[in-house]
Parts: sequence; C-alpha cells; structure tokens
Amino acid sequence: MQRIPLIAGNWKMHTSLAEARELATAVVSACKGLSDREVMIAPPFTALATVAEVVRGSQVRLAAQNVCWAEQGAFTGEIAPGMLQELGCSMAIIGHSERRQIFGESDVLINQRLAGAMHFGIIPVLCFGETLAEREAGQTMAVLERQVRLGLSGITVAEPDRLVLAYEPVWAIGTGKTASEQQAQEAHEFVRNLLFAMYEKSIAQQIRILYGGSVNSGNVDALLRQPDIDGALVGGASLKAESFERIIHFLQ
Ligand code: 13P
Repeated sequence: MQRIPLIAGNWKMHTSLAEARELATAVVSACKGLSDREVMIAPPFTALATVAEVVRGSQVRLAAQNVCWAEQGAFTGEIAPGMLQELGCSMAIIGHSERRQIFGESDVLINQRLAGAMHFGIIPVLCFGETLAEREAGQTMAVLERQVRLGLSGITVAEPDRLVLAYEPVWAIGTGKTASEQQAQEAHEFVRNLLFAMYEKSIAQQIRILYGGSVNSGNVDALLRQPDIDGALVGGASLKAESFERIIHFLQ
C-alpha cells in the first residue's frame, strides 16, 4: 500500500479573519478534483471557526497548531481536543520547534499532548528536528531518535493514518535554507527505521513523515520525489495562495 502524500500549511501567528477566509477559499478551490493527495491547513485558533465554514464539505482538513491533553479543566491558555472537534478540526500540530524553543515545551509535555490528542480522536502531526548547533556537532540522528522515541512513548498505533510525523530541521525553518533532498531523505529514512523498531512492519511502513523547513514552489517536487518523504509542512509559502497552490499540485 502506498502512503498518500499530505500537503500541510502551518499559518503560525498570521492572518486576520478576512485574510484567513480569503486564503482558505483559495485553498479549497486549488484542491478541487485532487484525489491522489491530502491537504491540511492550520490557521491560528482565532480563525478556526471562520476557516471551518469555508472548508466544510471540501476535502481540505482543518488542524489546530497545538492541543491540550485534558478534556477540560484549569488549564489557562489551553484548548481541549473536544473544543477543536466542535469546530470541525480533525488534526493538530504538536511539538513544533517554536513551541519547544520559544515556549519551553519538553518531550514529556509533547508526549502528553500527543497521547491526549490521539485518545480523543485528533490526528497529531508530531514535529521534531535538530538545531544547527546539533547538526554541526554530529548529533542530528541522536536528537531525532530522542524526540521521536519520547514523543511517541507509550503510544500504540492501530491505524497508521491516525498519526503523522514531520521532520523540521530548525535551521531550515523560516530561513530560506532548505535541507537538500539527500539530507532530508537521510533523516526520513533514519526515522522510518526507528518506526520499524517501534511498531509492527505494516504500521511503520504506512505512517507518513512530512518534511518542513523553507519548502516552496521551487523545491517541493524534488523533496517529495524522495522515497521516505510523504508530504510537506509548509510555513511561509502556505500564506500565499499562489505558492501554496503550486505546492499542493507538486509533480509526483
Ligand atoms: P517555513 O516553511 O516558513 O520555513 O516554516 C516551516 C514550518 O515551521 C512549518 O511548520
């Protein structure tokens, strides 16, 4: 069975409601008739309801940029899985490097978020990746192994399409410095082998691993041609309808 490519847009802390509506409308129309790939967008929390109206009935999946593990309670500043589902959100980005670096989220906290999301039926997109200093110190694979193993600690996967991974080298995020196809493939292959060590073969084979970090309309085709790159998690280039449309239409 082949993995269905997933093109995901992470809007980060961008878009007014009017901009979100306009961008989501463009994404929906860019996806018409596409059946060999999936598309997800993650607007800021404030725009989820607005974007939900636009994507309803389309094939575009709605995601949050984070999610809490608890059903409800005293968690100031957090959003529960059920609250997202009420808005039509079926996925959530978890462990993005900006959450790890700026907001101090640890592997343990990220694992808790991921477990909660899966428990309540939200598909997590678990992000991981090394910093430039870690790469230069030759620690890339050790960092990836730690983040993936701890992020997925205690997680059983019955249906491989209910979990998505995303390799995002920190030095490639928002810098215009994309990992080369070879660098990305090497990391993805390493993580794929890690999945084989952690899960049954048929499951590990089917879990999608996205690449993120300065993906644009010019480099997406080459990246997604790599055997273990199953999609893209796009920041900056997902905020412009034209470039995201081209990325959605990457050439297989
Ligand atoms: P850029 O595509 O802007 O580098 O961002 C990548 C990213 O962080 C997506 O989650």
